[in-house]
Amino acid sequence: MEIYFFLGKGGVGKTTISASFATGKSKFEKDKKVLIASLDPAHNLGDAFDIELSNKIKKLTENLFAIEVDLEKMIKEYLEDLSRNLKNTYRYLTSFNLDRYFDILRYSPGIEEYAVLEAIKKFVESKEYEILVFDTPPTGITTRVLALPKLTLLWSKRLMNIRRKILDRRKMVENVKGKVETILEDEIITLTSDEKEDQIMIELLKYQKEMEFLMNIFSSENTNINVVTMPEDLALFETKRIIESLSEFNIKVKNIYLNKYLICENPPDVIKGKIEEQDKVIEKMRNEIKDIKIKEIPLLSKSPRGIEELLKFYDNYILVWEQSETKK
Ligand SMILES: Nc1ncnc2c1ncn2[C@@H]1O[C@H](COP(=O)(O)OP(=O)(O)O)[C@@H](O)[C@H]1O
Ligand SMILES: [Mg+2]
Repeated sequence: MEIYFFLGKGGVGKTTISASFATGKSKFEKDKKVLIASLDPAHNLGDAFDIELSNKIKKLTENLFAIEVDLEKMIKEYLEDLSRNLKNTYRYLTSFNLDRYFDILRYSPGIEEYAVLEAIKKFVESKEYEILVFDTPPTGITTRVLALPKLTLLWSKRLMNIRRKILDRRKMVENVKGKVETILEDEIITLTSDEKEDQIMIELLKYQKEMEFLMNIFSSENTNINVVTMPEDLALFETKRIIESLSEFNIKVKNIYLNKYLICENPPDVIKGKIEEQDKVIEKMRNEIKDIKIKEIPLLSKSPRGIEELLKFYDNYILVWEQSETKK
């Protein structure tokens, strides 16, 4: 499975480029099913395709599919799942009324990131598509989503150590007083000190496996993290920040799409300054970011919209880069 992410700040062309990329891939690799999924809460993937999209996967061509993921729904499902799990795991803690915390959990920090991560996981696990293309939410969220598996693993390791200590103590009590028991709804429940039987440990291990799976996916050779940017000073800073913060989590940026590159033979005075800034930024980018391929895409006089125009965009501006890659 090949996975492509397109990251960058708003308005740089993530949706346009990812939609065009997915369309082009589906044309040139007819034997593969391609899914493009928008994970941006402010969806505009449908606008790019000039088609109405929803939270249900829509077939656009024989092998191209698209969806705008409903993240609010994802968050709700994630929380329901979480609380169901917690209720099962902590069955003996009846006083712990989880439903009361539901609303607070919805607004707890990081919940959006987990929902996006869940969405990614769902598509990857479904194994329905050979090529997955993700149009992502603004940079901040996405870099955190990509970092989440590794961060969560650090956490779960700590939690497992704590749990292990608790089970050790329980074992000591067992050695002195016999099995530890508690009463739940008139039923006597024996609390285990065996790691393999402890629900919380089982849950933590399962979670750890999931996060390892995602971490491996994000740093895999078949996962392509692309940053979309524009030839402007601020965009250059942003691009460098993304590269740095992802590299802390062993995630490499494969390509930079330098979009909206203004090409103008004798520029009129009003845009001369802009073009000078652009040229300076491009030079700086080439000097400062040496090991990542910078792929330029010109600013067009008209926004590409609809499958045909997106395909033309791919043929004219993205395909050359793809071909230069396969030649290598
Ligand atoms: N190379 C380009 N030339 C002309 N217009 C472009 C180009 N790339 C993107 N656009 C237009 O710029 C606007 C923002 O692009 P979009 O892909 O929606 O950005 P993002 O998803 O990063 O917010 C859209 O109207 C889009 O059609
Ligand atoms: Mg967008």
